[in-house]
Amino acid sequence: MLELGAVWTRGAAQQTGAGTTTQARRDFAWRRARFDFAPRTRMNERILAFQSACDRGERIAVLTAYDYAQARLLDEAGVDVLLVGDSLGMVVLGYPDTTLVTMDEMLHHTRAVARGAQRPLVIADLPFGSTATPDFTVANSRRLIEAGAHAVKIEGGASHAAHISALAAADIPVMAHIGMQPQQVRIEGGYKIKGKTAEQSAALLADAAAVEKAGAFGLLLELVVPAVAKEISDRTRIPTIGIGSGAECDGQVLVLHDVIGLFPWFKPKFATQRADVSAEIRRATAEFIRDVKARSQ
Ligand code: KIV
Repeated sequence: MLELGAVWTRGAAQQTGAGTTTQARRDFAWRRARFDFAPRTRMNERILAFQSACDRGERIAVLTAYDYAQARLLDEAGVDVLLVGDSLGMVVLGYPDTTLVTMDEMLHHTRAVARGAQRPLVIADLPFGSTATPDFTVANSRRLIEAGAHAVKIEGGASHAAHISALAAADIPVMAHIGMQPQQVRIEGGYKIKGKTAEQSAALLADAAAVEKAGAFGLLLELVVPAVAKEISDRTRIPTIGIGSGAECDGQVLVLHDVIGLFPWFKPKFATQRADVSAEIRRATAEFIRDVKARSQ
């Protein structure tokens, strides 16, 4: 679990040099160099905790959440980060893909999640069409932050470096999402694994370097060949969060419904289902319906 208070305690000790390890001093020196002192003090405590966990070698557990009850239950379970993913388009709203999700829908669900989450870092997705220009991206991100998110996630690598720089300049923490980008599904004609060729691997490494340089605080790698995801994780200082990208990322994210078995009509190969909630819903509701009908004349 990410330690929130510990970040500041350790930071203060590091400033005086008291009780610090060489590794901790190196991490602090890097963070000072990377974000400079003023932006660092403005950064959300949760973002620093997220990055410190990675510095300590602690793996980061991320799950999607779309409403109050889910957020509260996952918070109680100890999840580090809640992602209000635009995957809500499919698993909550019944759309065929994420490209139909609107800003208003993202705001609605972000508010609900924020009400249920006390401790985790809450990241909200910038939906399709909300990132047309850097200024438009900043304006939409502000709305997500006002709705209760601590940070936003944007799909795109080097192509979106200017957007990420604009967000960093506006003090809005941003995670970049590279590899398979679901908002490109219609253009690419499907969900395709990335990093299979030398050219694709080089492009992914360039994307990772570009978003880190632009000021992203973290990097999500979706459906990236595991060896390439490992190389990116080794080369970048910001934490990498993988989905379908092997075990070597700094953390893992999954869609909640895939973990608890709440969307039985589609099961991604990379997700281990750990409960069968849809079977329980079907059993309990059928029992209720039977009981009601049994009282019929
Ligand atoms: O929208 C989402 O849930 C995501 C995950 C697939 C990582 O971006």
